[in-house]
Amino acid sequence: MRVLITGGAGYIGSHLADRLLAEGHHVVALDNLSLGKIANIQHNLEHPGFRFVEGDILDKRLMEQLIEECEIIYHLAAVVGVKHVVSDPLQAMMTNVWGTGVVLQSACDHQRKVVLASSSEVYGKTMKSALAEDDDRVQGSTQVSRWCYSTAKALDEHLALAYHRQRQLPVVIIRYFNSYGPRLDPQGYGSVVAKFANQALDDQSITVHGDGQQTRSFTYVDDTVQGSVLAGTVEAANGEVLNIARAEETSILRLAEMIKDMTGSSSDIVHLPHEREYGENFEDTSRRVPSVEKAERILGFKAEVPLAKGLEQTIGWFRNQR
Ligand SMILES: NC(=O)c1ccc[n+]([C@@H]2O[C@H](COP(=O)([O-])OP(=O)(O)OC[C@H]3O[C@@H](n4cnc5c(N)ncnc54)[C@H](O)[C@@H]3O)[C@@H](O)[C@H]2O)c1
Repeated sequence: MRVLITGGAGYIGSHLADRLLAEGHHVVALDNLSLGKIANIQHNLEHPGFRFVEGDILDKRLMEQLIEECEIIYHLAAVVGVKHVVSDPLQAMMTNVWGTGVVLQSACDHQRKVVLASSSEVYGKTMKSALAEDDDRVQGSTQVSRWCYSTAKALDEHLALAYHRQRQLPVVIIRYFNSYGPRLDPQGYGSVVAKFANQALDDQSITVHGDGQQTRSFTYVDDTVQGSVLAGTVEAANGEVLNIARAEETSILRLAEMIKDMTGSSSDIVHLPHEREYGENFEDTSRRVPSVEKAERILGFKAEVPLAKGLEQTIGWFRNQR
């Protein structure tokens, strides 16, 4: 198959490209390099099945052309991460709403399947454990910029489902939960794993926001990619929304302790108020645990990599980068 990955020089997109190339597919990776890096795809630039296109998803003509050439689109390009969204909500909304609109419209014109990368952020600040795909979303005020990422991703989902129902566009929506692994950018989407690993390797204080009792479910990138590939290939997933995640719930403090131990770091673990990083007008969510039942049932997907093993790989990669 010829596959288009938007955001193909980004963290998940570049791993997805590796996996699809290894399976013998042709990959076109589109990225405007705003957050992605050539270093992430350098090893593929000479691969006969790989083509990198530097460009923007907002460029309608380019998207028309690339989408026509490909059989399936993994739409991953987005302004990602609370930090970027809070600092430039306008850019985030333009890319994450209009950009997705361009991709879906072009895909519809050519009837190409789209796998849309959404996020656990769409659940907002609900405290429910084992969040199922059809659960209610609980959003904060529009005056808190953090929620524009969640809102944009939710709008993307609505748009994709509308194209599916009204125009028969084949779409699968996948909600990633805190993916981590090699190529994470410590300056990038604000991955707490990347931040803690680098602080620990530098023997700097590991900075936990609040009391650290807030929890997340971390998914190693090999599992993130496996779920994404299945979403693109399993017919029964068409028109569905699926959590791509590992169910295990880990507190941020526990994560900090694990990373400190695994790096052998002399760092201390310190607690900072959220406002220090994100300003006064910030809200966090204290719990986010996925239900993985639907992805298992429909895709046969089960995240395999335990947190300790994934962290070992990720820390090893950061160590090698030094
Ligand atoms: N990493 C996670 O844990 C996570 C969690 C939930 C959802 N997601 C979603 O997964 C997708 C990939 O995220 P990632 O973690 O790999 O982040 P990333 O920042 O590494 O990848 C996004 C890529 O999109 C590119 N991009 C941004 N705007 C663009 C534009 N206008 N045109 C073309 N390219 C553009 C960036 O340069 C970057 O390479 C995103 O849609 C994100 O919202 C990721």
